[in-house]
Amino acid sequence: MLFSYVPEMKDIAFHARSSDVLSGAVVSLLFFEPSSRTFSSFSAAIKRLGGQTVEYQNPLATSSAVKGETIEDTIKVFEAYSDAIIVRHSQKGIPLKAAEAAEFVPVINAGDGTGEHPTQALLDLYTLYEHHKTLDNLTGVIVGDLLNGRTVHSLIRGLALYENITVYLLSPQVLKLSPTDYKNFSKRGIKLIEIEQETDIPHDTHFWYWTRVQKERFSDLNEYERVKNRFVLTAKLVKERAGKDTIFMHPLPRVGEIEVDVDKDKRAVYLRSEIRNGLYIRMALLGLILGRL
Ligand code: NCD
Repeated sequence: MLFSYVPEMKDIAFHARSSDVLSGAVVSLLFFEPSSRTFSSFSAAIKRLGGQTVEYQNPLATSSAVKGETIEDTIKVFEAYSDAIIVRHSQKGIPLKAAEAAEFVPVINAGDGTGEHPTQALLDLYTLYEHHKTLDNLTGVIVGDLLNGRTVHSLIRGLALYENITVYLLSPQVLKLSPTDYKNFSKRGIKLIEIEQETDIPHDTHFWYWTRVQKERFSDLNEYERVKNRFVLTAKLVKERAGKDTIFMHPLPRVGEIEVDVDKDKRAVYLRSEIRNGLYIRMALLGLILGRL
């Protein structure tokens, strides 16, 4: 359903066609944690569809949040100003609280601490679908910070909705998926296999999803330094393990865990379609949620 609107969204954005899908609508972006891509792609998505935004970035540094306002009160204020609210927060669970507090408008989670990042999962799933023409029977590898990486959690949750999915998990010991997440995701029917090193990556999987070690979640920066580049996607690894249809994904930003050399490989979608799909998916999502599509 959502995916079926992507070609139309792509046409609007790609050809700078004017659109009135969201005309008259105002959407609030409440970003309590720094963001570049997610913030900008939501903002661009709304504007591409003819809507407008109220943008409230890093309020912890600038505003009433500093004065101690609760999320519930903030939501009451912003639902008076807008037709939907998009929330990012460094604390897990805050967007859920926001959604519970909202009486009149929908709330979208744009990333909550080490929790979830649902719209990133939608664009990641779409990227997989675009390349492989299905989301069933896929095998892939997810690498990096599986403990703290919210994009990883949401992607696994999303993939678990489909049939016969196997994901190999590769991370430093201290950044493995938490036992609770491992158990809960596995219960959903997805096959999760923890591996120890690059040479355990099976040949010819459908995707490699590399992620950044989440520095901001470490209390001990020496520990971060120790693990940050334990697993790096290199041209050599591509040669040894990737198949001709394996796509290389990353939610970005990357901070050294993918060699720049890999970028020119056509299978590397992270700086190409994966970013663009973020815009199209968010356009379609807002159009649907606001009842305009
Ligand atoms: C991710 C995030 O914020 O969780 N970035 C993004 O939204 N594209 C990934 C990250 O910060 O590592």
